[in-house]
Amino acid sequence: MMSAMQDRVVVVTGASAGIGAALAEVLGQQGARPVLVARRADALVHVAARSGPHALTVVADVTQRHEVEHVRDAALARYGHIDAWVNNVGRGIDKPVSELTDDDLDDMMRVNVKSALYGAQAILPHFRARGRGHIVTVSSMLGRVPFAPIRSAYSAAKHALNALMANLRMELAVSDPGIIVSCVHPGIVDTAFASNSLHATGAMDLPDAQSAQQVAEIIRDTLLQPRADVYTRPGAQKMVVAYFSAPDMAVAERVFVNARRRG
Ligand SMILES: NC(=O)c1ccc[n+]([C@@H]2O[C@H](COP(=O)([O-])OP(=O)(O)OC[C@H]3O[C@@H](n4cnc5c(N)ncnc54)[C@H](OP(=O)(O)O)[C@@H]3O)[C@@H](O)[C@H]2O)c1
Repeated sequence: MMSAMQDRVVVVTGASAGIGAALAEVLGQQGARPVLVARRADALVHVAARSGPHALTVVADVTQRHEVEHVRDAALARYGHIDAWVNNVGRGIDKPVSELTDDDLDDMMRVNVKSALYGAQAILPHFRARGRGHIVTVSSMLGRVPFAPIRSAYSAAKHALNALMANLRMELAVSDPGIIVSCVHPGIVDTAFASNSLHATGAMDLPDAQSAQQVAEIIRDTLLQPRADVYTRPGAQKMVVAYFSAPDMAVAERVFVNARRRG
């Protein structure tokens, strides 16, 4: 039986490792034509070999607008159209707010926010011309609740990212209702994210981490059955609602502060 993913052209940024690599593989195995994007060509080639017969690799630094536009052009040159664009690149930080520098904040905004804005803006003209398309952005639970002070500017950047994507969704609902905008919010996922973080202090223990494969399958399901806002773990949305509806946010935060002290 033909898969619903068959022949869909899906750009996946950050596809040389972690969630993006798992997603490229899941999509490729179901007949899609994934376009794998990252800076490391050799790692991309290895992932592409596991991502079905039609995987395309494009080396790019998505913090550079012209390189993101090159990704779009390379995908269109190969396949003639693009069905979906997954902004998955992101980077953490290991620094509390009291110690953040200008460069730290700029780096977090560049890699977590501007990269996705460049992706959305690069693909919009093509989606508009087709009258359809799907922009999926991988955000984070820390983009909804700021429950990890050490991730400070990362959490702030993901909050900004969510706002931009929600505003884009509302803008397009009026101008281009065939274009869908989704955000996916993973919790802790078992990837090299922690050790790749800016100022990483070393690999972290990841108790209860979700696998990259599980998150990839949820992103695939989001592509098949679009929703605006997707949490990858049961109970996650309830946690967000509880925080924002708490009569005193500081009391809700204390639960996490105390849990960290214990940990
Ligand atoms: N892991 C978690 O616990 C977790 C939790 C919540 C949300 N997330 C989010 O999930 C997404 C994926 O994270 P992950 O855990 O898979 O991270 P990861 O294992 O560190 O992988 C990051 C990927 O992004 C690529 N990348 C980084 N900077 C890039 C740039 N400037 N241009 C192009 N590619 C770049 C990396 O490849 P190259 O080095 O080859 O460029 C790699 O393929 C991120 O948005 C992250 O914020 C992760």
